[in-house]
Amino acid sequence: MSKSNLIFIVLISIVLFNSCGDDPVVIDDSLTDFPYTPEAYPISYPNSFPKPVIPIDNPTTKEGVLLGRHLFYDPILSSDSSMSCSSCHLPHKNFTDDMATSKGVLGQFGKRSSMSTMNSVYAYNGFFWDGRSASLEDQALRPVEDPIELHENWPNVEAKLKKHPKYPELFRKAFGITKKSEITKELATKAIAQFERILVTGQNSIFIREKQGLVAFTSDQQEGHDMFFDLEPALPDAECNHCHAANLLTSNNYLNNGLDSAATYSDFKDYGRGSVTKFPSDTGKFKAPSLVNIALTAPYMHDGRFKTLEEVIDHYNSGGHGSPNKDNLIYNLKLTTRQKKQLLAFLHTFTDTSYYKNPDFFSPF
Ligand code: HEC
Ligand code: HEC
Repeated sequence: MSKSNLIFIVLISIVLFNSCGDDPVVIDDSLTDFPYTPEAYPISYPNSFPKPVIPIDNPTTKEGVLLGRHLFYDPILSSDSSMSCSSCHLPHKNFTDDMATSKGVLGQFGKRSSMSTMNSVYAYNGFFWDGRSASLEDQALRPVEDPIELHENWPNVEAKLKKHPKYPELFRKAFGITKKSEITKELATKAIAQFERILVTGQNSIFIREKQGLVAFTSDQQEGHDMFFDLEPALPDAECNHCHAANLLTSNNYLNNGLDSAATYSDFKDYGRGSVTKFPSDTGKFKAPSLVNIALTAPYMHDGRFKTLEEVIDHYNSGGHGSPNKDNLIYNLKLTTRQKKQLLAFLHTFTDTSYYKNPDFFSPF
């Protein structure tokens, strides 16, 4: 036997011997063959809205948004691969669902209604109806482990992502990690937050374009506008603008709009903001959501109790139910049937579906 053949046989037997042994299988963990050249995501935030604040430790890049978009639409985040974030945040419904309260993977209903992830780049005063989460990065951690949402745990999700055929490359390109083992929930939620920061809408609504002189209101829309903003002495003040302020149509505040009667501070079924701050003066208060695209997001309120905008207007017009935390701006508005229709016509001017044409908002699968 020649010397080179002998070496060959020795090498082969080492390989065979090793593959029959108990040694753990070593997967090639390195990702450095993929380039890491992130580029800023090309977005110009509309002039009609305030300039958003982007955290310096999580700039929005093309690669990060692409990864976040995959994660947002991928049922890999749920325990039985049946649901993703988008199951309760449907893109065509302004990223809410059409149920009063949302249903999780086990078929159980939560106690609150889904909220829009649109324009959340502008929300500076907390996320969720009670504001218990301070950032989009923190918010995105929670649905995965919520038993009535995705009912999964992060170590499992991390393991699934590490052995996935595509995700390690996407994480490498977004965050420059060098090994699969560097995939973490922190990076996953940073990517989801980047994706959410591009979800902006409203700038092409009739409401904004009328301000820019590009379209005119109908006379009903105009009178609805004047009641919403308390502008016309001859018409009743509807007071809406104090809590749903222009141009994003939210004040980002936690308020009580008279949905339930409560004799004392502790009488509310859902404490809302009060469960976070522990202040009795915050019980029964909820985030006043943006009204951009409100016509697309029925049913309404934190528990989805109103099926239509007509019911919402009837609620405000009635002055709501009494409680120690009910806001002073909630009182019998005395709108006539015609004026309620005009207010409704104005709420419809907040609709902007131009984002339907932006493929980056929709599923990559
Ligand atoms: C089972 C349905 C469901 C799933 C799945 C779900 N959400 Fe939600 N989402 C909700 C509900 C309900 C709320 C309001 C909950 C509350 O206030 O307690 C909410 C609130 C939010 C908010 C707060 C918006 C605001 O303006 O304060 C964001 C952002 C959000 N979800 C993003 C996500 C992301 C990202 C995922 C996936 C990781 C996800 N959601 C998965 C139902 C769901
Ligand atoms: C005192 C502040 C306040 C005033 C005034 C007010 N709102 Fe609200 N609005 C809120 C709060 C707070 C919520 C969320 C309440 C909840 O779900 O518990 C809300 C919720 C809504 C919703 C449902 C949003 C959703 O995503 O489900 C609509 C629609 C709405 N308001 C329209 C109006 C209109 C129209 C007016 C004027 C007639 C008005 N609001 C006046 C505070 C206010």
